[in-house]
Amino acid sequence: MADENLEEEEIPSLHEVYSDYFTIGAAVNSRTIQSERDLIVKHFNSLTAENEMKPETLQAHKDFFNYRRADSIVNLAMENDMKMRGHTLVWHNQTPDWFFSRFMIPLDRETVLGHMEDHINEVVGKYKGQVYAWDVVNEAISNDSNHLYRQESKWLEIIGEEYIRKAFEFAHAADPDAKLFYNDYNATQPGKRDRIYKMLKGLIEDGVPIHGMGLQGHWDIHGPSINEIRTAIEMYASLGLEIQITELDISVYSWGDNRRLQEPTPRMLDMQRERYGEIFELFREYSDVITSVTFWGVADNYTWLDDFPVEGRKDWPFLFDVNGEPKEAFWEVVNF
Ligand code: GLA
Repeated sequence: MADENLEEEEIPSLHEVYSDYFTIGAAVNSRTIQSERDLIVKHFNSLTAENEMKPETLQAHKDFFNYRRADSIVNLAMENDMKMRGHTLVWHNQTPDWFFSRFMIPLDRETVLGHMEDHINEVVGKYKGQVYAWDVVNEAISNDSNHLYRQESKWLEIIGEEYIRKAFEFAHAADPDAKLFYNDYNATQPGKRDRIYKMLKGLIEDGVPIHGMGLQGHWDIHGPSINEIRTAIEMYASLGLEIQITELDISVYSWGDNRRLQEPTPRMLDMQRERYGEIFELFREYSDVITSVTFWGVADNYTWLDDFPVEGRKDWPFLFDVNGEPKEAFWEVVNF
């Protein structure tokens, strides 16, 4: 039970509680590694950079790499014996235009492939031995059943579907020891799940170096159902891939609920507690294939959901509240 008066030492460390199951990660940024430092170090043994390793941060201008912010996160991980996940190399978002065009004129396929190869080589090479797993390709699969691949992607437009295979090959060449992941959202939704499965199966049959499937896990208190999550885990794992939950948050709002509450209602928090409980129970059941569960943030005082899908609307998706105190959901996850 939650008790406001608990001493810090009476609160168990989340990652220690889960040490027999999988690593517990948090996405952090240059600000939260300062403001939430104690919470991060106590409860998490894996880190992901929220934005600091994306192409627009690392190589905003061609051939000028800026590792300052990424390094401060990697250093925190290394100093505290945490694992470091790399996120992300090839994505249709947060990638500067120069990768694809010059003076507004699209570049040719070979040039764009060259930009991809150079970026991957440089970044994966730089963090070799520190970043153990990379989200190599993010969100390449279409959300609608008319297409297998997401159409609004310059990578697809200019290189063609081969860009996915190439990205994995470049990453493998740059660090043969790194675990290479495909990462996507709505990865439990049956239609999209089947499309992702189909792509992964094709890559594996073609001998592409891919080792894992990342389910982002931007979920809410109503869905997806435990059965949908279970089926997705089983399908991806049946391909011999390891599974990681890479961006977990459980919004207190269901999709389409655009209310702006000042506080979560008791019922929302209760449903969130139950949901976290059943989701982690499922994760424990599959701990032979799930190797890591990462939250997309640390505590409720900061989440990207404060601006998505409703701008400026507060959300409370984590196990720690706005003051960094454990919520009922936390106790549900650690007491099993
Ligand atoms: C996707 C990306 C993340 C992040 C979230 C929203 O899930 O993979 O890097 O941008 O969207 O913050």
